Amino acid sequence: MNRIYLIGFMGCGKSAVGRRLSFLLKMPYYDMDKEIVRQMGMTIPEIFERFGEEYFRNLETEFLQNLQQDHCIISTGGGVTMRKVNQRLMRQTGLVLFLDAPFKEIWRRIHKDPNRPIVRRSTREEIESLHKSRYRDYKRTAHITIRTEHRTLRQITQYAA
Ligand code: S3P
Repeated sequence: MNRIYLIGFMGCGKSAVGRRLSFLLKMPYYDMDKEIVRQMGMTIPEIFERFGEEYFRNLETEFLQNLQQDHCIISTGGGVTMRKVNQRLMRQTGLVLFLDAPFKEIWRRIHKDPNRPIVRRSTREEIESLHKSRYRDYKRTAHITIRTEHRTLRQITQYAA
């Protein structure tokens, strides 16, 4: 299939890059989190609170398994590579781009965001260690890694396109 998946930690710029890529390449755009929120009629913190994280992870996998659209851009949630089944599915159905941003920048962008339940319930040290522990899975899943430091949105999308 002809999809482009954007993966990476929270706050690395997947949505911004995805939207721009979609515009440049004239391909439909899906934001996984937004699709889940729409489908459930609840915010992500509400889903976590009411049904728990595992349930949210199941929704992510279901989204990937059920998506019919072939030619499209998908920005994923930062935890999507936690499951091997998701890693495999993405690699088999498209090109996977990892947006690799430095933790300092990530933290600056996410630490006040009330819409990210994992950030809300954790300390900076915990988030930094989560970032470290997920890094290998991002690298392993991606076909291409794009380092975002010192690059503008335009440079990142041009590189990806
Ligand atoms: C999560 C990242 C979020 C969202 C949820 C869980 C994670 O997506 O899916 O809050 O586990 O890293 P973004 O990466 O778009 O913030």
